[in-house]
Amino acid sequence: MKVLVATEKPFAKVAVDGIRKEIEAAGYELALLEKYTDKAQLLDAVKDANAIIIRSDIIDAEVLDAAKELKIVVRAGAGYDNVDLAAATAHNVCVMNTPGQNSNAVAELALGMMVYAVRNFYNGTSGTELMGKKLGIHAYGNVGRNVARVAKGFGMEVYAYDAFCPKEVIEKDGVKALDSAEELYKTCQVVSLHIPATAETKNSINYALLKDMPKGAMLVNTARKEVINEAELIKLMEDRADFKYMTDIMPAANAEFAEKFAGRYFSTPKKMGAQTAEANINAGIAAAQQIVGFLKDGCEKFRVNK
Ligand code: 3PG
Repeated sequence: MKVLVATEKPFAKVAVDGIRKEIEAAGYELALLEKYTDKAQLLDAVKDANAIIIRSDIIDAEVLDAAKELKIVVRAGAGYDNVDLAAATAHNVCVMNTPGQNSNAVAELALGMMVYAVRNFYNGTSGTELMGKKLGIHAYGNVGRNVARVAKGFGMEVYAYDAFCPKEVIEKDGVKALDSAEELYKTCQVVSLHIPATAETKNSINYALLKDMPKGAMLVNTARKEVINEAELIKLMEDRADFKYMTDIMPAANAEFAEKFAGRYFSTPKKMGAQTAEANINAGIAAAQQIVGFLKDGCEKFRVNK
């Protein structure tokens, strides 16, 4: 059995070593395709793979067509919007994610971006503090919960809205659960986004939702760029000189954001919320173990294309 790790943005070496150990202990072979720049390289590498570990790498119908021996794809991470689930099901390929394994890393980056913003991008001028500010967590999953834990350490007042999580679950963490996204954005000066990119959420973070945020508002997006209505965010930031946008998912209109909103817009060059050795080890090794469990015992825990 051949397990391919196909990562345009590679894992830390220590994580690849851990993955190799799991795969070879099971008697399988590990193949690596890192930092590829062309889809043709991926199409070639998947030809004889029985299993693939990916990150945000795109697995579409063309890749699945090329992967004639493929049985399972594991997205080492949370969001699986990069995998065509219907095509995978049609090809009889099991798709899994590794929920929770990289969530602390993403949460730490979200808080780091908040500090960077309120300290004026460390430009030497006098900034403000996070303590006492109202933080709204939009979607209370694994990352949202970690953001709440760290934000409470900063002394922030933490609120959350999640359409699918019962209020009691949120409130047992000492977080105030609100009834709607509108209420969350009206209440909180800082909002941290943790919604997945789905048909319902794409473009949903728009002018109407953001316009009522309190003065000195900040939106932190470590979720997905597709959930932002970029044209409307640009309009809002033109209308509100107090509004900051911090993200690790570069918008399509990055150049326009950077030019128009210097000092209150920041994007990392690559998505890097999960770019820590710990997150790579946790998610990568979990992916390898899930592949071994599936191939040896038929275990389908964490399957997302049921
Ligand atoms: C996730 O969905 O797990 C995060 O967005 C991390 O993605 P990455 O592995 O591509 O950095």
